Amino acid sequence: MAEIRKLRKGEIYPVEYICRMTAGNLSKKEPIVGNRIAKMYSTYYARECYDTCFVVADDEDKPVGYILCEPDCKRYRKLYRKIDVPAIKEIDFSCGVEAWFFPVPYMFFGKKYPAHLHIDILEEYQNQGYGSKLMKALLEELKSRGVPGVMLMANSENEGAIRFYKRLGFKTLLKTKGPIIMGIEIK
Ligand SMILES: CC(C)(COP(=O)(O)OP(=O)(O)OC[C@H]1O[C@@H](n2cnc3c(N)ncnc32)[C@H](O)[C@@H]1OP(=O)(O)O)[C@@H](O)C(=O)NCCC(=O)NCCS
Repeated sequence: MAEIRKLRKGEIYPVEYICRMTAGNLSKKEPIVGNRIAKMYSTYYARECYDTCFVVADDEDKPVGYILCEPDCKRYRKLYRKIDVPAIKEIDFSCGVEAWFFPVPYMFFGKKYPAHLHIDILEEYQNQGYGSKLMKALLEELKSRGVPGVMLMANSENEGAIRFYKRLGFKTLLKTKGPIIMGIEIK
C-alpha cells in the first residue's frame, strides 16, 4: 500500500524520473527529450521547495507520484531565471528562452494565487485516489503557512486532469487553445 509523505531534501532524481515518464510518449521514450522536460518542469521544485512538495511512496518508500509546489511566485521568478534557465539554455537554447517566460502567468495571478503546483503520478498508480490525497496534503500545508491561493497550468486537451482539478474545487482563471490556468483560494 503506497502512502503520502513529504518529499525529502536531495530526492531530485525520482522527481525528474516521474516527470519524464508522465510528460507524454516522446518524453518517455527519448531520454534527451525527457531530460530536458524534467529540467524545465520539475528540478527546481525538488531543489528549492521540497518542504512544500509531497510524494506517493510505494512499499519500498520509492516516490511513484508527486505534487510539487512553490508557495512564492516572486521567489520562483528570481531563482528559476537565475539558476534553471541558464542550465536549460545549455541543453537547448530555445527551450531556455521558452522557460524564461514560465514565471509570467504565475506573476500575473500571483496576488490572489501566490503558490503554483505540478502534479504527476506514474500510470500504474493513477485513478486510485492518490492524486486527491496529494492535493489534500498540499492544501493543508499551504493553509498552515497562510498562503491564500494556489494555481496551476494544464494543457486544455488534458480533459481527465481538468475534471480532476474541477472536482477538487479549482476554478478556471484563463482558458486558451493551448494552456488552461486554474486556481483555488485557500480558506
Ligand atoms: C491527473 C492526476 C494527477 C490525477 O491523479 P489520480 O491519482 O489519478 O486522481 P484520483 O484517483 O484522485 O482521481 C481521479 C479519478 O479516479 C477516481 N478515483 C478516486 N479515488 C479512487 C479510488 N480509490 N479507486 C478508483 N478510482 C478512484 C475519481 O473518481 C476520478 O475519476 P474521474 O476520472 O471521473 O475524475 C493523474 O491521473 C496523473 O498524474 N495523470 C497523468 C499526468 C497528468 O496529466 N498530470 C497533470 C498535468 S496538468
